[in-house]
Amino acid sequence: KIPVIIDCDPGIDDVMALLLAFSRDDLDIKLITTEPGNQTQDKTIYNARAFTSYMKQNIEIARGLDDPFFRELEVADDVHGESGLGEVVLPEPGLLESDRTAINALKDVLTESEEPIVLIATGPLTNIGALLLAHPEVKEKISYISYMGGAAVAGNMSPFAEFNVYVDPHAADIVFRSGIPIIMSGLDVTHKAYVNMAELEKIESMNTDLSQKIGSMLRFYIHNAKNNDFQETDFENGIRLHDLCAVSYVVTPELFEGEDCFVAVETEGRHTAGATVVDYSHRSGKPHNVKVLHSVNREAFVNQFMEAIEKMSRQ
Ligand code: BDR
Ligand code: CA
Repeated sequence: KIPVIIDCDPGIDDVMALLLAFSRDDLDIKLITTEPGNQTQDKTIYNARAFTSYMKQNIEIARGLDDPFFRELEVADDVHGESGLGEVVLPEPGLLESDRTAINALKDVLTESEEPIVLIATGPLTNIGALLLAHPEVKEKISYISYMGGAAVAGNMSPFAEFNVYVDPHAADIVFRSGIPIIMSGLDVTHKAYVNMAELEKIESMNTDLSQKIGSMLRFYIHNAKNNDFQETDFENGIRLHDLCAVSYVVTPELFEGEDCFVAVETEGRHTAGATVVDYSHRSGKPHNVKVLHSVNREAFVNQFMEAIEKMSRQ
């Protein structure tokens, strides 16, 4: 089994990423940590606890920081709703929040692990940035970071910035400069990782409580896309499942293609704060720190998601 830790900000696609991770017998989830992003810390940890309980998993869930390093928190309630999970209401969680903070839990789990752990990150990198500042020695216990965030070509919060990096570029900068290998599922690949309408209907026709909830959350994206410019759906193809890519890569890297590049994070910038500057043309001569994914076998990816829904519906 591959040992992993998941740092997330649930968030509709974050819980779908958790779902995929829970469904995989080849993953050993050591810890879940939450942070502010799609919603506030109070809401993202509640959603993580509620969804993990609903899926009958018993995993430690630890509370991360309340705010980005320097920027004022901007949540994505226009995309994910007031609760962070659209209109879906989950049963009260049985799982309690850990009595360790996310940073302490991350440090302890990594330090005590005999083998290196993969970090899957589907939110702003606030917790991981803080961890690396406070305990840089844990780096050697992280095999790589599978990260949903960034964009080589075009952003979704500004012309160049993707939401997760935009929320906390200073934390992302620390992570990207850490020397830990990063697999970046940025918008370049996640915009190709969509479910089309026929597939959405197929999910709904599974007719289980879980599939109905997934359907409701995906439809919430469509409904909301009419009121915002964030484009979880592009209306032509379907609904983008950003965060799932970061989990899918860990279990099935063969579904993805990418290129090793030097990538820097723009922390200030008059027009570009939060941009990931991807040196596709290799002009900087700097060592490659990131594999930037740009293609996905969409059909296989969607099948994997549907199999996860079917399997977890029977839990
Ligand atoms: C990212 O932003 C969030 O709203 C999603 O959960 C995803 O992590 C996409 O830009
Ligand atoms: Ca997310």
